[in-house]
Amino acid sequence: MRNFSTILVTGGAGFIGSNLINYLFGQGGFEGRIVNVDALTYAGNPESTAEVLTAHGGKRYFFEKADICDRPAIEAAFEKYHPDAVVHLAAESHVDRSILGPEAFIKTNVMGTFTLLDVARTAWKGREDVLFHHVSTDEVYGSLGDSGFFSEETPYDPRSPYSASKAGSDHLVMAYHHTYGLPVTLSNCSNNYGPYQFPEKLLPLMILNMLSGKPLPFYGDGKNIRDWLYVEDHNSALWTIMRKGEVGRDYNIGGENEWENIRLLSRLIEIVAEETGADPETYRSLITYVKDRPGHDRRYAIDCSRIKSELGWRQAHSFDEGLRDTVRWYLTNPGWCERVRSGEYRSWLDRNYGAR
Ligand code: NAD
Ligand code: TYD
Repeated sequence: MRNFSTILVTGGAGFIGSNLINYLFGQGGFEGRIVNVDALTYAGNPESTAEVLTAHGGKRYFFEKADICDRPAIEAAFEKYHPDAVVHLAAESHVDRSILGPEAFIKTNVMGTFTLLDVARTAWKGREDVLFHHVSTDEVYGSLGDSGFFSEETPYDPRSPYSASKAGSDHLVMAYHHTYGLPVTLSNCSNNYGPYQFPEKLLPLMILNMLSGKPLPFYGDGKNIRDWLYVEDHNSALWTIMRKGEVGRDYNIGGENEWENIRLLSRLIEIVAEETGADPETYRSLITYVKDRPGHDRRYAIDCSRIKSELGWRQAHSFDEGLRDTVRWYLTNPGWCERVRSGEYRSWLDRNYGAR
């Protein structure tokens, strides 16, 4: 089993990255140092790792505000902290935004990944006791019909600027392994849900819109299917791959948990109503069908038998339990939602890290 002394996490102020840092210092049992490199775009909020900062700041936890496309800044982070692992999550991550403005996706997801890979290759100079783990999505595989699953052998067929940019980054990661011998692992995961997710993605958007009586916008016929996984289970899978995964190998991660969007919303409405004591009919009356997303992938479903059989990973949270915990988190953290949406977290950053 691999061990690391310093892990450089990119995108650690975002949804999955902040949960990963909290997990590594908690249940994951990691005993070394973590450096969080994040540009703090609209989707990043350093407040999501506030407890880690209080417990470990300046000793085992460090934050560097930097763009992964900024080569001198990334080189400086490598020189300052000498990481022996990188787990790369920084990305532009929302499909709808990629349709409205693809350029930022190409810059961060393709050029940013290239910059990180190239700095790591130069800094690590052929070392084998290091690892670059790249976090990617099942969306690189395209869209499924009514049957079948994405496996690691499924050919890439990305259909949105987001998934095309992630596919490009995946290919670069594997190319750096085959060409330069960079020790890499790669994972492609299905849709995540849980605390600290920016409220533009389906579940937090719907929860917050219910609470404020706003329409619940469904694209097309509402029958698109996604495979949902609790974010902590994704992070336990990432940590398993980082420690036990075979170098140069890719692993699919999924929840084996397919839901049609509209059926998922019905379950969500029931849970939110139970938690708030409101009449579920009030929420149901907010459902609004809107124009479909262009190129909207119909169905995603993951075959994750490789990570289960080869690395022994299992998800630990049932969907009902994870969904209820997520609803409770959004109900009890309205301040986080307001601050991340308004950009007001920046003053929190200045108070806690000094003005930057
Ligand atoms: P997110 O949008 O919540 O967070 C992205 C983070 O990256 C933010 O903190 C942002 O500030 C940072 N960032 C963006 N551009 C940057 C740049 N140029 N330099 C440095 N930092 C930058 O995203 P997420 O949902 O946490 O996703 C994290 C990773 O996981 C992404 O690579 C995404 O493709 C992948 N992924 C996400 C899901 C999902 O369901 N959310 C599923 C599978 C894979
Ligand atoms: P999303 O959370 O954007 O994730 P992704 O597109 O990366 O899978 O969307 C999940 C599903 O929900 C997808 O089928 C699009 C749909 N959707 C809506 O119907 N309405 C919305 O407002 C959003 C954000 C998504």
